[in-house]
Amino acid sequence: MAADKRMERIEQAADWISARSGGFKPIAGIILGSGLGKLAESIEAVDVIPYSEIPSFPVSTVTGHKGNLILGYLGGCPVIAMQGRFHYYEGYPMEMVTLPERVMATLGVEYLFVSNAAGGLNRTFRVGDLMVITDHINMMPNPLIGPNLDAFGERFPDMTHPYDESLLALSDRIAAGEGIALRHGVYLGTSGPTYETPAEVRFYTLAGADAVGMSTVPEVIVARHCGMRVFGVSVITNISNADISCSVLNDGDDVVKTADAAADRMTRLFTGMISAIGKREI
Ligand code: HPA
Repeated sequence: MAADKRMERIEQAADWISARSGGFKPIAGIILGSGLGKLAESIEAVDVIPYSEIPSFPVSTVTGHKGNLILGYLGGCPVIAMQGRFHYYEGYPMEMVTLPERVMATLGVEYLFVSNAAGGLNRTFRVGDLMVITDHINMMPNPLIGPNLDAFGERFPDMTHPYDESLLALSDRIAAGEGIALRHGVYLGTSGPTYETPAEVRFYTLAGADAVGMSTVPEVIVARHCGMRVFGVSVITNISNADISCSVLNDGDDVVKTADAAADRMTRLFTGMISAIGKREI
């Protein structure tokens, strides 16, 4: 059988990154969502690679999202960070949305840290809260549709533990030490690009979601298919509450501003956790 084109693209990008970085071996991958790119400044960079230079990589198009891959050390741990991600609503096929996670897995990444901006559905949430993702609901096409990539994982991956329990426990420890308040909750991923109607807000709330956003779920599904251990945080940038969604309009600039304000807490949390991983404390 002819080699799968998807494998060729993944291997081409991974080989190129590995050669360019002199065989740098990241343990943790980080996806920096809207406005959270500031965490990148804490990485002692070994190399910063614009997506446009990486063979077979797509290029990010959204405001507030930079398009760089950063290789370096965070809290002493070798990491690969995506400053800007690829969203399904931008028009990329799911294969491209999740290509970076496949490339990370090929480079040897064992842990995936994801961050995003999300609308709060849970009535106790406030703008600026950090919500550790304990589970998700997928409302997008599944990125594993199509012939299975056996080199990475099985046809029907188990999703009983999408977010790693020992990483959840570690986040509680680090947050307590740093004085950072954390919420826990279920993230629901829609394709976007529309925000939710009042009826959708009621529906998602009844379905058990605490926050809603337009990313993360495809990346997490692919990371789990590859056997990575996943940790995710949503910054609650607006409240998607049925009572107020008629009078308060959601706005992309506010989302980016609120996410920026959370960057310091996110940076301390991720740095503490990834530093513990680098020391193999977990
Ligand atoms: N809905 C969907 N995606 C989002 C939201 C929202 O309210 N806020 C930030 N990303």
